Order: sequence, then C-alpha cells, then structure tokens
Amino acid sequence: MPELNLILLGPPGAGKGTQAERLQVDFGLAHVSTGDMLRSQVADGTELGRRAKDYMDKGDLVPDEVIVDMLTERIEAADAREGFLLDGFPRNESQADTLDAALGRHGRRLSAALMIAVPDEELVRRLTGRRVCVKNPSHIYHVEFDPPKHEGVCDQDGARLIQRDDDSEETIRRRLEVYHGQTAPLIAYYERAGLLRRFDGTRPPDEVHRHLRATLATLRLEEQI
Ligand code: AP5
Repeated sequence: MPELNLILLGPPGAGKGTQAERLQVDFGLAHVSTGDMLRSQVADGTELGRRAKDYMDKGDLVPDEVIVDMLTERIEAADAREGFLLDGFPRNESQADTLDAALGRHGRRLSAALMIAVPDEELVRRLTGRRVCVKNPSHIYHVEFDPPKHEGVCDQDGARLIQRDDDSEETIRRRLEVYHGQTAPLIAYYERAGLLRRFDGTRPPDEVHRHLRATLATLRLEEQI
C-alpha cells in the first residue's frame, strides 16, 4: 500500500482535529498534532513545555527550534512510516521547508495538503464552545454543535471534559491574527507545489468527512498506479 503523507491546513477551529480523528481510522494513518504534543509537554512540566507555555497562552507560535526536532522525530517513528496526518504543522514557510527536507532525506514526499476553510466569526463561536476530553484530547465536542450525551463527560471514555486554556475570546482573536499573518501564506505555497485540495469547512462534520474521505480514497488509488 503506498504511503499517504498528508497535511491538514486551516485556521484554529476549522475542524482539523475533528476530521483527523476520523481519517486516521479510515486510512490507518498516524495522527500527529503538534498542539497536542506541546500540551502534553506542558502538562508533564518538561523543559520544552516550559519554553512553549507562554507562547501558547498568548496565542503566538512557539519558536521553530522548540518544535521542529520534536516533529521530525515523530514522523520517523514506526507508526508514521506507512503514512501520517499532520495537524498543526507546518505553521509557516520555514517549517514547510524543514518538513520537505526531512521527508526528502528518507526518500519520502507529501501526498497532499488538505485545506479546510471557515470564516473567522464562525471560528470564534466554535472555539469558545469547544470542550475536550481530559484523558484523550482527540475526543472533541462542542456545547451546541456536537454536545456529549451527558454534560461535561466524554461519551467515549467517561472522562471529564475541559476547556482549553487558549480558548478564551481574546486569545482566539490573537490566534486568528497569527494564522492570517503566518500560516495562511502556506495555501499559496502548496498550491504552487500542486498539492493543495480545498474543502468547505462550514458544512456539518459528517459532510466534511465524506468529502475528505472521497478525495483521499482517490488519491490512494492514484498513488497505486
Ligand atoms: P493547535 O492545538 O494546533 O490549535 P489550532 O491550530 O489553533 O487548532 P485547534 O485545535 O484550535 O482547531 P481545530 O482546527 O483542530 O478544530 P477542532 O477540530 O478542535 O495549536 C495550539 C497552539 O500550539 C498554537 O497557538 C501555538 O502556540 C502552538 N503550536 C502548535 N503547533 C505549532 C507549530 N507547528 N509551530 C508553532 N507553534 C505551534 O474543532 C473546533 C470546534 O469546532 C470543536 O468544538 C468541534 O466540535 C467544532 N467543529 C468541528 N468541525 C465542525 C463543523 N464542521 N461544524 C460545526 N462545528 C464543528
């Protein structure tokens, strides 16, 4: 089976994590979320976590040198050798160049960059209402759009649901500013590379998932030819 090496692009709250949880099951890909990796380092009180925390709390990007080695090691791990789904990386052109170089060193390449588009005001509504499982951050809910069966409790493992520290309205607005200034130029970057696929993220999660799944199924067939 050919590797599918994918990037999920899109603003904060576009639904990258929501869709990654589904696609990793559909296609057997490793879900690599740099945000989750950083939050786990913060929770464990590591040196890397201490360096990252202030940037994350403000809604700024952590410096490249904090994140790049962690990411390149992760995509070389055994479970990512058959393909991966990057969620939250790259965030700027320098990270995109680093990723290309890291893959090239191992004779690998990207298969596609999947761009999920949603307007800013909708993103603020989504992020202020988001709740995540304290035990597994891939279990994502929304108080209005995707509520759990029992308030405050994860449907999948019964753990407590919490609000992320950076999901306050002020920090969300800063994250959107950072996205438009530093990450959105990657849309043109991957378009130039012929890798960009666009999806309407304002559709309900199941519909977005169907579109993504159909595109990836075709991509996998094309890679086999
Ligand atoms: P990160 O964790 O990557 O956050 P983000 O990019 O801001 O993205 P989110 O996780 O907030 O949103 P999402 O698109 O995954 O949306 P979700 O599926 O949860 O980064 C956090 C911080 O870490 C950064 O600010 C930075 O400091 C640092 N960082 C991380 N990577 C870095 C890097 N590479 N370099 C430097 N710094 C880095 O959905 C959101 C909500 O909407 C949920 O409630 C969900 O239920 C709901 N929802 C989802 N889809 C739909 C839909 N179709 N309709 C209605 N509701 C929906």
